[in-house]
Amino acid sequence: MCGIVGYVGPKSAVDVVVAGLKRLEYRGYDSAGVAVVTADGLSTRKKAGKLVNLQEMIAADPLADTGIGIGHTRWATHGGPTDTNAHPHVSSDGSVAVIHNGIIENFAEIRAELTALGIELRSETDTEVVAHLLQIVLPTVDGDLMEAMRRVCRRLSGAFTLVAIVADQPDVVVAARRNSPLVVGRGVGENFLASDVSAFIEHTRHAIELGQDQVVRITRDGVTVTDFDGATADVTEFEVTWDAAAAERGGYDLFMLKEIAEQPKAVADTLLGRMSSGALTLDEIRIPEEQFRDVAKVVIVACGTAYHAGMIAKYAIEHWTRIPCEVELASEFRYRDPIVNSKSLVIAISQSGETMDTIMALRHAKEQGAKVLAICNTRGATIPRESDGVLYTNAGPEIAVASTKAFLTQVVAAYLVGLYLAQIHKTKFADEINAVLTQLDDMPRRIDLVLDTTEHVRQVARDLSNATSVLFLGRHVGYPVALEGALKLKELAYMHAEGFAAGELKHGPIALIEEGMPVVVVVPPKTGRDVLHEKIVSNIQEVRARGAKTIVIAEEGDEAVSAYADVLIRIPEAPTLLQPLLATVPLQILACEMATAKGHDVDMPRNLAKSVTVE
Ligand code: F6R
Repeated sequence: MCGIVGYVGPKSAVDVVVAGLKRLEYRGYDSAGVAVVTADGLSTRKKAGKLVNLQEMIAADPLADTGIGIGHTRWATHGGPTDTNAHPHVSSDGSVAVIHNGIIENFAEIRAELTALGIELRSETDTEVVAHLLQIVLPTVDGDLMEAMRRVCRRLSGAFTLVAIVADQPDVVVAARRNSPLVVGRGVGENFLASDVSAFIEHTRHAIELGQDQVVRITRDGVTVTDFDGATADVTEFEVTWDAAAAERGGYDLFMLKEIAEQPKAVADTLLGRMSSGALTLDEIRIPEEQFRDVAKVVIVACGTAYHAGMIAKYAIEHWTRIPCEVELASEFRYRDPIVNSKSLVIAISQSGETMDTIMALRHAKEQGAKVLAICNTRGATIPRESDGVLYTNAGPEIAVASTKAFLTQVVAAYLVGLYLAQIHKTKFADEINAVLTQLDDMPRRIDLVLDTTEHVRQVARDLSNATSVLFLGRHVGYPVALEGALKLKELAYMHAEGFAAGELKHGPIALIEEGMPVVVVVPPKTGRDVLHEKIVSNIQEVRARGAKTIVIAEEGDEAVSAYADVLIRIPEAPTLLQPLLATVPLQILACEMATAKGHDVDMPRNLAKSVTVE
């Protein structure tokens, strides 16, 4: 939520910052703004709406060409998406400009204090108070922006990444972070700050992770990091493994289409190096094997699509390990006094690694003594940093707001953890584990075969685009797949969509069925658990008898469903537990195309942001 960029160096700061914002726009697109330090002081442009509005504004009224600037793309929390509430916010005397990601919880009290001092606040945001506070503190610390930032941060509660520049300091950008993301890009004679590395990847692949409660000052030639009290902080440097091209649309109309197409590679990359001669090697998980041996319960915490990946993993983990596994919405977890202790393995699944609900859940789990393992797609993010161990999903950057390739790789990574537990707990023989690994290894090829049906699925989507409501049904691991299909449709096509466990239908939801209502059914493999297959064939008939239009996703050769399918989408055969890696793909395409047919902005759906960094 909210993207931030800071730059100091020889290039045009406006160009670098705006290009960085373009790559961060997935984080929020309610407004955008930039500020630069010029010979005459600060110069700012900001505009409500998508970045293009700001770009037009700058084209009409260019900013001075300087080498220091900050920029922001907003997902509104405090105050509507207006020009005035757009960041940067400037102090009352015009000397300090600030951008912010997060929520300052005690802003009302600070606002009242500032008002009492006669300072007139112009916006409704929580952020603006920081600009005024910095202006007040700076003269008391001889203009030392880093020290002023530390002092101000000690007064703030909540979540924040703050970045500030000052009118008379043309070589210094200072930032601070608590509970919100911030990385430093280290260049030669130039340095960068950003919410994530994609903002500066075209300039440098050397990055620095910042820890909790740290302040950083960048100049052209230096990076200094301290904690909020001024003590020098240890930081971790890392190299970004992908390049700028990975964060481009690469010939696709939409990032989402590109990311759907990248799924075979993303799954292959997530498996890469984790199997050797058919056996599982997860040495990279920092949690020692003895601690895995002690695990008596697994709890998965995650949100949204990642939660659906967790739901799927539960079936596999319990089946392979016989260890009880619970899946919990991260936003609910800590508020219900969950039973976790030192024998619990809590798995936090997150693409961004910055989802606040998941961060708070993992902190709660750690407080209860549990071991926390992150499954994450973003190096250096808060969730892997705060977890005891991490297994990265190597999906590459996911830019479209709706998660696709991250989902498939989360399922794969969680399966690897399940198999690893089975290996350590000896609940499966080595050859059984190898058999699953071999099947997993073949999934990229099969996902490719699903992608071959893209045109057919797009046509189905166009035919359905006038529907007002779509139901999704599944059983076993097909149930979370149905939930995921419904979520995708809601977030992209802005329409009523619901996923149900097919067996639940007759306990109430079947009353929703009306003549012609599309019902998408995920059919389990025929050769897996036959009983599941039989039951769902009955469920298809039940909804069809009540007028539903059935869109059936079934494996090749499953003729039992043909008679009851108004539309049939074929996927390759796969074992029951692996079928979600195939069955989800047409649902992604369906949602993407239905949204496109309705004229929606698929990559940036309304009201959403990619990283939900507030609770
Ligand atoms: C839906 C979607 C969201 C995210 C959720 C968690 O398409 O993308 O539901 O899955 O906000 O995000 P991460 O995985 O970054 O924690």
